[in-house]
Amino acid sequence: MTDLKALAQQLATISGGRASPPRLKEGVITLALDVSGLDPAARDAMAADVRSTALAAPGVSDARVALTAERRGVRIVAVGSGKGGVGKSTVSANLAVALKKLGHHVGLVDADIHGPSQARLMASEGQRPAARDSRMIPIIGAQGVPMLSMAHLVPDGQAIAWRGPMVGNALGQLLDARWAEAGVDLLIVDLPPGTGDIQLSMLQKHKPMGAVIVSTPQDLALIDATRAVSLFEQAHVPMLGLVENMAGYACPHCGEVSDPFGQGGAEAAAGRMGMPFLGRIPLAMAIRQASDAGTPPAAGDDAVAEPFMAIARALSERLAG
Ligand SMILES: Nc1ncnc2c1ncn2[C@@H]1O[C@H](COP(=O)(O)OP(=O)(O)OP(=O)(O)O)[C@@H](O)[C@H]1O
Ligand SMILES: [Mg+2]
Repeated sequence: MTDLKALAQQLATISGGRASPPRLKEGVITLALDVSGLDPAARDAMAADVRSTALAAPGVSDARVALTAERRGVRIVAVGSGKGGVGKSTVSANLAVALKKLGHHVGLVDADIHGPSQARLMASEGQRPAARDSRMIPIIGAQGVPMLSMAHLVPDGQAIAWRGPMVGNALGQLLDARWAEAGVDLLIVDLPPGTGDIQLSMLQKHKPMGAVIVSTPQDLALIDATRAVSLFEQAHVPMLGLVENMAGYACPHCGEVSDPFGQGGAEAAAGRMGMPFLGRIPLAMAIRQASDAGTPPAAGDDAVAEPFMAIARALSERLAG
């Protein structure tokens, strides 16, 4: 006799919950396997695994696995801040790299139409995305992260003086690119600075599953961050947490972090705003230098990478929960 319940459990385990409960008729198992976000190699390996596991169950003579890609779409995590220059782009790029190191199938969108910076941070300047059936195919940036930025669509240094509707269109094209086919199921979106109408309509239209707020210690004191929080609340986007950037100063010689602004303020402020604190990143020369060179500091396995990894781990837990 085939123990369908035990088999279902086994299939769920090896597929990470992507296999539907199996059905059995006259010795033939049928089930659906959700392969969205998997690259072709991973998809085939998982399908083969699921099939052979089903075939190994007693009383099973054949197994038919239907591949589907509907259940899980590409989830968007928006990275925003109350004001410019606090390190949104730096955090977005390095979160993408760090989440990839943790095994996430992550992509990166630079939604800063007027001042794109991800092409530089992710060493993909000058590349042009191809398109199929008028949907763009993401470019592969540093550390193999699929990405798209406005900088990939317009010639270098050309000012982009667009108005609202055009900006919305351009953003829509970046977000509706062929992400799933590029193996992406989690998209980090680096938002433009500010909390205006463009941001709000973008959030309402593309429904991120959550938001990460980046703030500096000073910015928190000035409650700029609360403006970003209310932007996301208006768009009904849940808060995934707060990242404190440029928190303390990492000595370029010994690496020791000193705290000219004191410590713990951001964590307390996050608590007051009722959101999780994801971690802090020191102000460090090495971060600025690596970023400018297009080698995201999170890619290393040193002390410079660690704060980004810690934040990615905290975020990963929130995404799972
Ligand atoms: N933790 C850090 N240590 C050192 N330099 C940093 C750190 N975070 C960001 N920077 C530097 O600060 C500058 C601004 O960072 P970034 O471009 O990421 O900010 P932003 O919030 O995206 O800015 P904008 O609002 O203009 O989009 C960059 O030169 C970047 O390299
Ligand atoms: Mg930026």
